[in-house]
Amino acid sequence: MTAILVLHGPNLNLLGKREPEIYGNLTLEEINGLLSRLGRDLNIEIRCIQSNHEGGLIDALQDAQTWAQGVILNAGGYTHTSVAIRDAISAIGIPVIEVHLSNVDAREEFRHSSLISAVCKGKVTGFGWRSYTMALQGLAEIMAEKNN
Ligand code: DQA
Repeated sequence: MTAILVLHGPNLNLLGKREPEIYGNLTLEEINGLLSRLGRDLNIEIRCIQSNHEGGLIDALQDAQTWAQGVILNAGGYTHTSVAIRDAISAIGIPVIEVHLSNVDAREEFRHSSLISAVCKGKVTGFGWRSYTMALQGLAEIMAEKNN
């Protein structure tokens, strides 16, 4: 069975309470629940991990190599700063989709640059929690194509 890691970075554990006008009202647990349900419909195993630590995210990416065929990653603030997460994405050789709840390009200047975009397969930004479900749907379709 195809398996996908959904990896959430720093401060995303606060979703629901954190600046809801920017990030929406759903909690991380609720978003993970929606992804698991969609995963069941698509016949894909979904494992969700959240870490506030750069090293924790890198460990999860490296470990994904051993069991996952793809990753959906919201690296939070590390998107804009982390060479180490970019290097981990390049190293693992499985498709990673970059996700953001907010439209980062419509926000502060420092959020316009992503160190990870160039090594990701694709990017979904600005659709709130739907950014995650759209990413999962897209990744599933790409994988299905490959398997046929
Ligand atoms: C975010 C956007 C980032 O700029 C920010 O640091 C986050 C969340 C998003 O999902 O919109 O923590 O990745």
